[in-house]
Amino acid sequence: MSVITIAPTDRVFVLTGAGISAESGLPTFRASDGLWAGHRVEEVCTPEALRRDPWMVWDFYSKRRADNASAKPNPAHIALAELEQRIGDRFFLCTQNVDDLHERAGSVRLIHMHGELNKAHCERDCGRPPVEDRSIYASLSEVGHCPCGGRLRPHIVFFGEIPYEMDRIQEEIGKATLMLVVGTSGSVYPAASFVHWARQNGARTVYIGPEPPLNAHAFTSVVEGNAGEALPGLFQVQ
Ligand code: APR
Repeated sequence: MSVITIAPTDRVFVLTGAGISAESGLPTFRASDGLWAGHRVEEVCTPEALRRDPWMVWDFYSKRRADNASAKPNPAHIALAELEQRIGDRFFLCTQNVDDLHERAGSVRLIHMHGELNKAHCERDCGRPPVEDRSIYASLSEVGHCPCGGRLRPHIVFFGEIPYEMDRIQEEIGKATLMLVVGTSGSVYPAASFVHWARQNGARTVYIGPEPPLNAHAFTSVVEGNAGEALPGLFQVQ
């Protein structure tokens, strides 16, 4: 049974991907039965798709909102929230996921670099902040509008767009002595670079997942297994 020791001087940066929500019943992207198996990314997750067929985009994300609403945090989300409780501001969580399972497990020091399912923002990017939007739409006519007149779009970072909070991410990686990466294939940048940045700063880097990620060579150690089974009991806080 692996154990990751966390010393009083350790600052922990955690990156999670779709794999941490797999045991909550939410599909990952690149598994054979994953989200990208049933949809062409170009049709639902690009700015061009939103311009070409906004309903196809909203229908895809409405369905993911419904899945998210019926999913529950699993022991992996809870283990990370408990670790945050124990080490406080020496903990930072960056998720690529757009579900809210980390929040519902109790995580607070958290950012969503690829956006959030339960929010929407103006498709004209008029500068107004995103708004809470948990609606599961049945047609495009139901989708709300920004006060500026623009239609709302999912608050999701599409392919070709810039992830959110990259300055904060770089700052936190610069301080980290330990990086934990959970359930991500390492196939999307810049997230797949984070482990390299941490290694350059001399941090320990640990991958947790059932199969090696594409950037496996960059990790100082790998804990093989499903996150919901591997994370509980993994951390030994000194
Ligand atoms: N526990 C831990 N990891 C798991 C589990 C599990 N129970 N089940 C699957 N995994 C791992 C898989 O081995 C795989 O490495 O989760 C990873 C999922 O990889 P992807 O489907 O590529 O998802 P992710 O890496 O999060 O994708 C990154 O790509 O499509 C974009 O914006 C989207 O945020 C997403 C980004």
